[in-house]
Amino acid sequence: MRTSMLRSMEAVLRRGEISFSSSSSSSHLLRRSYASESTPERKVAVLGAAGGIGQPLSLLMKLNPLVSNLALYDIAGTPGVAADVSHVNTRSEVAGYMGDEQLEQALTGSDVVIIPAGVPRKPGMTRDDLFNINAGIVKGLCTAIAKYCPNALVNMISNPVNSTVPIAAEVFKKAGTYDETKLFGVTMLDVVRAKTFYAGKANVNVADVNVPVVGGHAGITILPLFSQATPKANNLSDEHIVALTKRTQDGGTEVVEAKAGKGSATLSMAYAGALFADACLKGLNGVPDVVECAFVQSSITELPFFASKVKLGKNGVEKVFDLGPLSDYEKQGLEKLLPELKSSIEKGIKFANAN
Ligand SMILES: NC(=O)c1ccc[n+]([C@@H]2O[C@H](COP(=O)([O-])OP(=O)(O)OC[C@H]3O[C@@H](n4cnc5c(N)ncnc54)[C@H](O)[C@@H]3O)[C@@H](O)[C@H]2O)c1
Repeated sequence: MRTSMLRSMEAVLRRGEISFSSSSSSSHLLRRSYASESTPERKVAVLGAAGGIGQPLSLLMKLNPLVSNLALYDIAGTPGVAADVSHVNTRSEVAGYMGDEQLEQALTGSDVVIIPAGVPRKPGMTRDDLFNINAGIVKGLCTAIAKYCPNALVNMISNPVNSTVPIAAEVFKKAGTYDETKLFGVTMLDVVRAKTFYAGKANVNVADVNVPVVGGHAGITILPLFSQATPKANNLSDEHIVALTKRTQDGGTEVVEAKAGKGSATLSMAYAGALFADACLKGLNGVPDVVECAFVQSSITELPFFASKVKLGKNGVEKVFDLGPLSDYEKQGLEKLLPELKSSIEKGIKFANAN
């Protein structure tokens, strides 16, 4: 299957002037002038770059012509990853940084910081089970971001995203650098999965599919809005929609179980993370109408953070879209997810303030 990303990669390697797009309005390649010599300098830092997600994500960011400077940071293993990735003949300069003492250099000047640092799930674990380890890692990295690149857009991949994003917000508030337009929980993998599963069942071209996914990023807090999916499918029964919803919510567990103890989604997550970072870079560069789903500070429900469609602009979030019309099934899903998401958000806030 030739996804737009694969076509993009080939095109990037061939021409060095085509960028990827998965914007909700289009899944097609954009061929335009903003990736020519006039493309602004953009530094992207990947924290956790030597990990299962970090390595393929670093490669995909190296293929992105919007990136001029790629900083690969981890507590171990980055010299090898950086040397390897740096040989790819695309625009960006690559540098590897390892250990606390090099974090400042890795972060300084970054426009976008992507965080896939932390431990992944094993079979039988929920994303919440990761909390104790990953919360501390995220807190430390965000303290450094507040110090060394307080204006960067932060793309949080480390789980549980429903708690790590509130932790980041609290750290930034304490440092006096919090800007709600610059902090994103990356829920793009839920969108990627919903699109793939919907296209398969509806028998439509996956490249044309759009499905908003709202709520959070764990189990039932993931709420795909198939009633708003395009293109419309007339062949899907209520049972199909329930099954598609469940498969999207359990997509991560499907991979964790298939990997049988060897981690969680890495390749599809790297793809999704690269798409979301690309959307952030396009927004920063002034490309109009860049809209993707992300977990952000929000007032569209009673919760302080919520995933929905957001418009990305020169300063990060330009607009948080409300949920739009929901089916009865989706309304029930929304009611069910609110208490769980609320408690995950509160858990993050409590951790940040207690530690
Ligand atoms: N948002 C999503 O949709 C999504 C999907 C899949 C996985 N994840 C999460 O992404 C995270 C990473 O998963 P993975 O499979 O790549 O794990 P991994 O163990 O393969 O890699 C994690 C990397 O983080 C590094 N690391 C640990 N502490 C660090 C620190 N303080 N600073 C910098 N780097 C540090 C490790 O050295 C390792 O290289 C996990 O929390 C996982 O649950 C999120």
